[in-house]
Amino acid sequence: MHDWKVSVQEKKRLIDGALDELIPLVFPEELYRAARYLIEAGGKRLRPIVVLLSARALQPNIEIEQILPAAAAVELVHNFTLVHDDIMDADETRRSIETVHTKWGLSEGILAGDALYAKAFEILSYTLAKPENVTKCLRILSKACLHVCEGQWLDITFENDRRISEAQYLEMVQKKTASLYAAALAMGGILADGIEDEIQAMWEFGLAMGIAFQIRDDVLDLITPYDVLGKDRGSDLVEGKMTLIMIHGLRHGVKLNLSELTAEREIDEAVKTLEDAGSIAYAMEKAHEILDSGKSKIASLTDSEAKEELLKLAEYMISRTY
Ligand code: IPE
Ligand code: IPE
Ligand code: MG
Ligand code: MG
Ligand code: MG
Repeated sequence: MHDWKVSVQEKKRLIDGALDELIPLVFPEELYRAARYLIEAGGKRLRPIVVLLSARALQPNIEIEQILPAAAAVELVHNFTLVHDDIMDADETRRSIETVHTKWGLSEGILAGDALYAKAFEILSYTLAKPENVTKCLRILSKACLHVCEGQWLDITFENDRRISEAQYLEMVQKKTASLYAAALAMGGILADGIEDEIQAMWEFGLAMGIAFQIRDDVLDLITPYDVLGKDRGSDLVEGKMTLIMIHGLRHGVKLNLSELTAEREIDEAVKTLEDAGSIAYAMEKAHEILDSGKSKIASLTDSEAKEELLKLAEYMISRTY
């Protein structure tokens, strides 16, 4: 039987190998050490994996090696957003190690992120596909970066604002997180020389996948201990983030004094209150609903092993524990 996990692991291995060679330690070496640091710490590599799977789903014989640069570029963009996100969210840990700005300092963190961002577009240009398709990918990835900025802007302006609605939350996460997933899937489709309808279907699937992924991320922030998650637990509570869980909780009479959440015990109590109000279960229901509607977008695409892997990976995104 076709084992989707083995196939996905194999792609992750190829991506890790490609990433390892991308950032040489040139002068000033410490800048590049800071830029490499988070990439070397690992990560699930979900976004580059879906670039490859989307391409394979539309063109089963496509040479993975030739489109690896595009996949790696998406992971570099993701890592850039993480370095800057940790500055914005004042987080001290990620991928089970110190965040870049905690280890090197604020200005150094900003620069390491910028270096990853610039490098991403250089790497993308090495993709071996029709030049017009590489250009399209460049445009899509640039636009996704703008959307991440818009979403992250909304994310910080929503902090501690109890009037934020579910619709506003969904718009914010569509931009800050789902836009990069949508770009990843569309890029795979473009590099496989897919037709417009196929690329559009992949794009829409990616948006749903990304929103559902972020809802799960918000849930994990509450329920997963640091040694499993590898990042500060309860960070969203401390920062007053308006997650779907929080919005539901506030609508259902949950009262939290967010400014007093410092100890692990206080975070536990806040989580219990949200759990009792059904807010965590509500968010997960919503994630399932959104993902199901996303899956239907690619239902008409020809069945293949890669398509099956994409669907399985999407399920994993909302059931994962880290
Ligand atoms: C974390 O993404 C950032 C969000 C958009 C929620 P991942 O959970 O994919 O992080 P890594 O790459 O596996 O560390
Ligand atoms: C991050 O969202 C979204 C990005 C665009 C990086 P979060 O702030 O929830 O991500 P984590 O939980 O810190 O990984
Ligand atoms: Mg954030
Ligand atoms: Mg964060
Ligand atoms: Mg989070």
